[in-house]
Amino acid sequence: MNRQELKTKFSEVFGPDSTPRMFCAPARVNLIGEHTDYNGGHVFPCALSFNTYVAAAKRADDKIRLYSLNFEKIGLVETDLAHLAFDKKQDWANYPLGVFWAMQQRGIALHGADLLFWGDVPLGAGLSSSASIELAAAVTLNTLFALGLPQTELAKIGQEAENKFVGMNCGIMDQFASAMGKKNHAILLDCNTLKYEYAPLDLKGVSILICNTNKPHNLIESKYNERRSQSEHALQQLQSRLPIKALGELSEEEFEKNQALITDPVERKRAKHAVYENQRTLKAEQALKAGDLEQFGRFMNASHVSLRDDYEVTGAELDAMAEAAWKQPGVLGARMTGGGFGGCVVALVKNEHIEAFKQNVAREYEAKTGYKPDFYIACAEDGARELND
Ligand code: GLA
Repeated sequence: MNRQELKTKFSEVFGPDSTPRMFCAPARVNLIGEHTDYNGGHVFPCALSFNTYVAAAKRADDKIRLYSLNFEKIGLVETDLAHLAFDKKQDWANYPLGVFWAMQQRGIALHGADLLFWGDVPLGAGLSSSASIELAAAVTLNTLFALGLPQTELAKIGQEAENKFVGMNCGIMDQFASAMGKKNHAILLDCNTLKYEYAPLDLKGVSILICNTNKPHNLIESKYNERRSQSEHALQQLQSRLPIKALGELSEEEFEKNQALITDPVERKRAKHAVYENQRTLKAEQALKAGDLEQFGRFMNASHVSLRDDYEVTGAELDAMAEAAWKQPGVLGARMTGGGFGGCVVALVKNEHIEAFKQNVAREYEAKTGYKPDFYIACAEDGARELND
């Protein structure tokens, strides 16, 4: 759908009186550093060319009207600034409503607005369609009402909407990547301090290929929250001897020396993943900087193994996809990306092998799981922004 079509739809849904402004916010793929964000570690995502688009106009009253062309059966969602509340029936609209709410919580004065959404982000695929909806709403309100909030603040507002309004206890990675993405760059983010740096994705004949298992990652919320509390409990036990605030502060050696403090063997594995994955992410970024893509790929493979064996968030489909990918010629590395339990694998593949990769992996994956996969080449793009004609 192009911008003109979105504007036309806007008039159809909300009436012809106002001329909407256009915004977008991207999905993300995480290259390495999984389940480290809420453990105070590092992540290494990039924003994608899949986006949520918004056509929006402010209103003179306090009404909020939301409509999504991806969820037409939900219809128009209408409320006002004084009555913002989560409601399961509002479905997707809880994300933008959560953004209005999180802004209000910060004492920001808002007015009503009409927002029309449309996105090309694969839904439920672990590429953060929800964060892209939140950031699309956040950048829209920030611009329409001239709030002057920095992009990092919009990321925090998106996370707060998701944590406290929607009730999904995610970390900051997805919202940060959607807010702060930069064309042709990945973002190394320290989730403990929110310090970040951009790393050029100079891949010399290699592409980032996203392999969608098409296994919806349902149940992710309960399992995600369980992993979070297991890691937090392991941290508490380590804190009986170590002056740390997060697992991300530990080196592998410090973890090995102190791991016996964690009494539950499952929680010990969870903490081990968080510590090793964080260190692996730092080393992987160094490898990328040094132009050593082979080494980066080996770190990706090790990340998948750790997520499979120690954090136990992969599942049959993600494992089948990664294993099929690992066998292919021209593959430097492959791992699950996002929260897990379904969703996508991300692979580094030499360009001349991509076509054969897709065919072979699709055949093997489908034979093993019964799902037909999809493949997308990832292009690192800019973060949430207004689109000017
Ligand atoms: C989901 C969450 C993120 C992060 C990843 C796992 O995508 O939204 O905050 O925890 O899972 O790395």
